[in-house]
Amino acid sequence: MAPYPPPQEAATSTLAERVGKGPDQNPNDTITTSPNCNPNGQESPTGKKTQASPTAIPEIQWYYGKHESRIAYWLLLSGAKHFGYYPRGTFNPFPITSALRRMENEILQCLSLAPGSRVLDLGCGEGHISRYIAREGSFPLVLGLDITASHLAKARRAISGDVLRGFLRQGQVEVRLGDYHDLFTSGTGIKMGEWDGVTAVETLAHAVDTKLAFSEVYRALKPGGRFCFNDYRIGIPDDVVRNESDGEVDEKELSPQQRKTLKAWRWVMRTGGMKGSEYSYAGTYERLLKEAGFVDVKVVDLSENMRPMARWFWILSLLPYAFAKLFRLEKAFYNSVSMYEQYVEWGGWAYCQWSATKPAT
Ligand SMILES: C[S@@+](CC[C@H](N)C(=O)[O-])C[C@H]1O[C@@H](n2cnc3c(N)ncnc32)[C@H](O)[C@@H]1O
Repeated sequence: MAPYPPPQEAATSTLAERVGKGPDQNPNDTITTSPNCNPNGQESPTGKKTQASPTAIPEIQWYYGKHESRIAYWLLLSGAKHFGYYPRGTFNPFPITSALRRMENEILQCLSLAPGSRVLDLGCGEGHISRYIAREGSFPLVLGLDITASHLAKARRAISGDVLRGFLRQGQVEVRLGDYHDLFTSGTGIKMGEWDGVTAVETLAHAVDTKLAFSEVYRALKPGGRFCFNDYRIGIPDDVVRNESDGEVDEKELSPQQRKTLKAWRWVMRTGGMKGSEYSYAGTYERLLKEAGFVDVKVVDLSENMRPMARWFWILSLLPYAFAKLFRLEKAFYNSVSMYEQYVEWGGWAYCQWSATKPAT
């Protein structure tokens, strides 16, 4: 990895002073959701406060807690949890770290913010995006939010290391436990209308209520603020093949190939707690962003730019996939099976970058 540039100036205030009092930075804290946000994305029938502790969405915690995921992310991506970016036509996926930094740079460019901007990084994981954009964008404050305490613990260690080595200023990047479905009432300390940019890389796949998440982002942004995120979408049009009664895809309208892709996709998304992506058809996020009030909504298909890494993961998955299929151990080898299935269904889904702006007035 290229060395970080030295800090330009010392921090003049702490994060708590600048964003308001947040929860204690102890990753074992639980977060309290508002009464109308429960883990199923529906209104709580009792209106009682629920604890959205890191165990609230079991599939997500199962996925990030399992040994296969922990080893794979650590060994293959040094803890980052997003795809790398390659110029179109690249075959060789190495070096992986350069590709990861290039994807982080794509996010920075997409945000297109002036130095001095304040940025929220939702679903920050181990903090790779937050740290990159803070230093390369010369942002005085990037606040990462995540529901998985173990990721935040690692993010804090990485941030401290960066500060010690002079790559970041004290307080330039901080992370907190929190749920992006409930940014303001769950004790995160985040205030409305104070953020120039919001990013969310490969995390809205896990949203249980994408509409609610978008409206939280909208409320967090200043007028004119930018929202930029990367995620998956399935290549079935949002408005063509939905049942009016339940919003589900009408499978009778699909081609045999589309039905096959949908079957594989649903298994991957349901098993890994990715309800957001399960319901992200072509055009869904654009529609929901506009409904939330955003303008200048754009989507760019980056599938060919992440293909060398997807192909490399598919190669690595071949043996464990065969083993899992033979002994019916698909769930135990979830990462391998999902990487295999995704690559085999290439073209039936896409990896995209969405961007949108909150109107200036
Ligand atoms: C695939 S990882 C991406 C991490 C990071 N953005 C990166 O690119 O390295 C998705 C992250 O989203 C977090 N997450 C899932 N649902 C969330 C929610 N409702 N609120 C905040 N974070 C969430 C998970 O804990 C996980 O760390």
